Amino acid sequence: MKLLKTVSELQANLAQERKKGKSIGFVPTMGALHQGHIELIKQSAAENDISVVSIFVNPTQFNDKNDLLKYPRTLDADYKLMHATGTTLVFAPSVEEIYPEPDTRQFGFGTLETVMEGQFRPGHFNGVAQVVSRLFDIVKPDRAYFGEKDFQQLAIIRALVKQLNLNIEIIAHPIVREPDGLALSSRNTRLTSDQRKNAVIISQTLFESKAKKESLPLTEIKQEVIEKINAVPEFQVEYFDLVDRDSLQTVKDWTDSEHIVGCIAAYAGNVRLIDNISYY
Ligand code: PAF
Repeated sequence: MKLLKTVSELQANLAQERKKGKSIGFVPTMGALHQGHIELIKQSAAENDISVVSIFVNPTQFNDKNDLLKYPRTLDADYKLMHATGTTLVFAPSVEEIYPEPDTRQFGFGTLETVMEGQFRPGHFNGVAQVVSRLFDIVKPDRAYFGEKDFQQLAIIRALVKQLNLNIEIIAHPIVREPDGLALSSRNTRLTSDQRKNAVIISQTLFESKAKKESLPLTEIKQEVIEKINAVPEFQVEYFDLVDRDSLQTVKDWTDSEHIVGCIAAYAGNVRLIDNISYY
């Protein structure tokens, strides 16, 4: 495993491998790696000859400057955690390396980006599209791996690949959870011990709601999930939306779509957590 910090070093290494006909897998991350990332990283290493992991906290996708400042940066620990995952190259560039000039590109994803996260994090997906397209252009992978926890991000990235006509296979990995059900996230480390204990309410309520889907109308389920989570001290739901899996548009009845996913964002104190569950 090699740690590279510049685009030219990375591209020189990749050019040699590509000449030998090696396939390239890519896992973009913002670091602060946890088991969820490690599963993606291992999958990429298993399915490709060469596997690249990037660690880059992308400033353009943070609409809240405070969130950017507080984002954990743990390169040494991340590097150690990747030991024995089969990763070939770790790319940890500076901001100047990724954005030698300010990125002013404006992407458009229509109604995919105006709902859910898009409503509460203006500009977020444009920033994600900027960095992911830049990283794709640098790495030129055959396959790229993303977690399903960021369900809307995954839809945006699939749309990005289509728009830019890139020959990259996007591979989704299911959410990885703590034993109590909490979806793994780099933000979990910012929870106080009480918030961490109580954070189980999010996944627990989602799982319970799935068990009730045959017996309750969708609107009642939605209401119940929000009320249960809001009843926990320090917890506040920002949105809970039940949407069609592909269009991400809100559904009002269980018969409105064949594939319905419930996506939630909730604050535990000032830590914003997201999760989702597939109903059908
Ligand atoms: O999901 C993430 O960690 C980030 O949004 C990504 C895809 C690495 C882009 O910065």
